[in-house]
Amino acid sequence: MIYTLGGIKGGTGKTTLATNLAIMLSKNGRDVLLVDADDQGTATLFTARRNEMLNNQAGYSAIRLREMDVYQQVLNMKDRFSDIVIDTGGRDTKSQRSALVVSDIYILPFRPRSFDIWTLYDSIDLIEECRLINPKLKAVGVLNQADFKVSTENEETKKLFVEDEKIKKALVLLDAPLSIRKAFATAAAGGLSVVEQKTKDQKAIAEIQRFYDLITNL
Ligand SMILES: Nc1ncnc2c1ncn2[C@@H]1O[C@H](COP(=O)(O)OP(=O)(O)OP(=O)(O)O)[C@@H](O)[C@H]1O
Ligand SMILES: [Mg+2]
Repeated sequence: MIYTLGGIKGGTGKTTLATNLAIMLSKNGRDVLLVDADDQGTATLFTARRNEMLNNQAGYSAIRLREMDVYQQVLNMKDRFSDIVIDTGGRDTKSQRSALVVSDIYILPFRPRSFDIWTLYDSIDLIEECRLINPKLKAVGVLNQADFKVSTENEETKKLFVEDEKIKKALVLLDAPLSIRKAFATAAAGGLSVVEQKTKDQKAIAEIQRFYDLITNL
């Protein structure tokens, strides 16, 4: 499968989910390629950190690509890997569009704040345009950095995905919300997935596992 983490908003959790997904796939015996299609190069920095921490045993292959090369190279390499995870930047770029042309699943993390929700509508235009070329593209929204203690964010989000015709037509909501948890940030800083941390945050692990189970069974 080819998964692209994207959207047109910065800081939503694209790289966090891309790296956790790539690691969890590889831990399940899959041959994984992580493509960094974001000019910021965060996924590449993450992999460098990971290789440093794990004696060059990242567990997956990694490459940095931009613009039309994302499409061309992924197309060339797709039969050599069981899964490809593409991390893109939070803007409507040539890199993100060319990733979507070859992807099976488009994952859009978003935070439960109004600015993020509004950008989902702009992403819908992008999804619809890419589907003209790649009709099989599935698009899923994932609520990330939610704070369930103080609000009803999950319920409100579910309602939006049921009631809003435009959203409903373009996207499905993955019923795997992720809370704001320090473990996601500390694991990333150490080049690890949350499932690999020495001090285990079981709630974070349960959330990412649910995300993994649902996204790999779409
Ligand atoms: N569920 C979470 N809980 C706590 N921190 C999180 C969570 N998800 C992401 N973060 C933190 O939020 C910041 C942004 O996350 P990340 O880099 O994954 O977003 P991004 O969408 O890739 O950003 P960019 O658009 O800059 O590429 C990072 O510091 C990350 O560690
Ligand atoms: Mg990123």
